[in-house]
Amino acid sequence: MKPKLQRIGILTGGGDCPGLNAVIRSITKPALSLYHSKVVGILDGFEGLVEGSKRDLSWLDVSGIIGLGGTILGTSNKGDPFRYPVGKGDDIRIEDRSEQALKNYREWELDVLFAIGGDGTMHIARKFSRMGMNVIGIPKTIDNDLDGTDVTFGHDTALQICTEAIDRLHTTASSHHRIIVVEVMGRYAGWIALGAGLSGGADIILIPEIPFRWDCIYKRVRERSLGARFSIICVAEGAMPVDGAAVVKERDTRRTDPVRLGGIGDVVAHRITENTKLETRVTVLGHLQRGGSPTAYDRILASKYGVMALEAASRGEYGCMVSLRGSRVTTVSLDDAVKSRKVVAPDSELITSARATGILFGDC
Ligand code: F6P
Repeated sequence: MKPKLQRIGILTGGGDCPGLNAVIRSITKPALSLYHSKVVGILDGFEGLVEGSKRDLSWLDVSGIIGLGGTILGTSNKGDPFRYPVGKGDDIRIEDRSEQALKNYREWELDVLFAIGGDGTMHIARKFSRMGMNVIGIPKTIDNDLDGTDVTFGHDTALQICTEAIDRLHTTASSHHRIIVVEVMGRYAGWIALGAGLSGGADIILIPEIPFRWDCIYKRVRERSLGARFSIICVAEGAMPVDGAAVVKERDTRRTDPVRLGGIGDVVAHRITENTKLETRVTVLGHLQRGGSPTAYDRILASKYGVMALEAASRGEYGCMVSLRGSRVTTVSLDDAVKSRKVVAPDSELITSARATGILFGDC
């Protein structure tokens, strides 16, 4: 018997990234035209599933949005139904609201829910799948740290933005003979710093997977101050020294991941100036990396993911995440998708190529 696809739900969870709208579009259009489904957009991620906020999506709603950044449905990184923050200000309690979310899913008579998100969203999707919800995950994150797929959409756009920033920082750093530290995102994985640092020709790249030594960095920037007379250091927000920890900006129990990182760029610049007397500047790219239009690669990947996720639903394949393996989109179980985090292997080709072209990782 063919699975029912009369009513389908879509939500975007966690931090936004370029390409979310392209996925929403590529599920909604074929769902309306090929399956004659009713498409329900759930607002602000899992928060909307708990609170019951939704809107129907028409063809017109998703027309012209393939190149639009952000998400027309809204998102949240504070709405985990299994540890849902209730209350205001200092009076926050964490409650399990998963039954309420499941009740809404059933009352709305959804045949399947497409959950577009990163690591946190996939963990939540997996728990709901175990409770009997028909759920299919679609992997996004600029960080590219989901192990269940070769690439997440959003990452390519972030790389493009960071590479352009490093190119621009080069000209000003060399003109003023300065050291410019550029801090990029990447909490637990250094894919953005490594990719953008390599393509932008950074001199030093610091990533969470390779803890660095301060002396090693001081030595390199001193040497460069006598030759090239400038240095570009690309540092992931989760990078840390061998004898230290990642720099935490804020802890917020309402968030799916309570720890918000940020500030390592300032620490690196400060320590360099203090120990070498060389002039430093810091640029934190922050949310510029997540905003705006997706690259052509991300639009195409997002479109393939959406269409293939709908096809998986039409086969009755639930409890899975669409995944890119090589050039083909396939599916992996949500269990496998969340098993481990995809981090940079220190002996990977990317690292080897970067080292061979003279880039320092601070581990000398
Ligand atoms: O998961 C993507 C990411 O961009 C991380 O690299 C970063 O730490 C985090 O989101 C910041 O998210 P927000 O500012 O939305 O809390």
